[in-house]
Amino acid sequence: AYEKIWLAASVLLILFLLGSVTYGAVGPGVAMVTDSEPAIDPGGLDDDDRFTEPRVEQVGENEYAAYVVAYQFGFQPDPIVVPENSTVTFYVTSRDVIHGFEVAGTNANTMVVPGEVSEITVETDEPQEYGLICNEYCGAGHHVMEGKVNVV
Ligand code: CUA
Repeated sequence: AYEKIWLAASVLLILFLLGSVTYGAVGPGVAMVTDSEPAIDPGGLDDDDRFTEPRVEQVGENEYAAYVVAYQFGFQPDPIVVPENSTVTFYVTSRDVIHGFEVAGTNANTMVVPGEVSEITVETDEPQEYGLICNEYCGAGHHVMEGKVNVV
């Protein structure tokens, strides 16, 4: 009778050890994947086609959404073409480091952070070409980083 108890106990012990080995192996492995993801793709934006193919889309009768990517050293799309007398919301993200997004001569101005989407809404009036500038130091080409917003 004692033999059966010992046998059962050792089987349980083996199962317990297997269980903890498996748990030990899977636990850190899962954690590592989770930890390494933000460095590769901070906000999942690499899979977001609005930003892999930056563009302007009509989203309402007089409303437009402009998906813009800032990078060292420029903006996409360039130029950003938006219609006159409309409401335009810019969704801006960065592919690399922190940039600025300032529509020269207007109060449209935001910081652009990798993995995050900055949002600013503007009202356009008459056709005009605006300069787009980066006002956050972002590296050697910061001073030449510029784009255009064309209201047509
Ligand atoms: Cu981008 Cu300065």
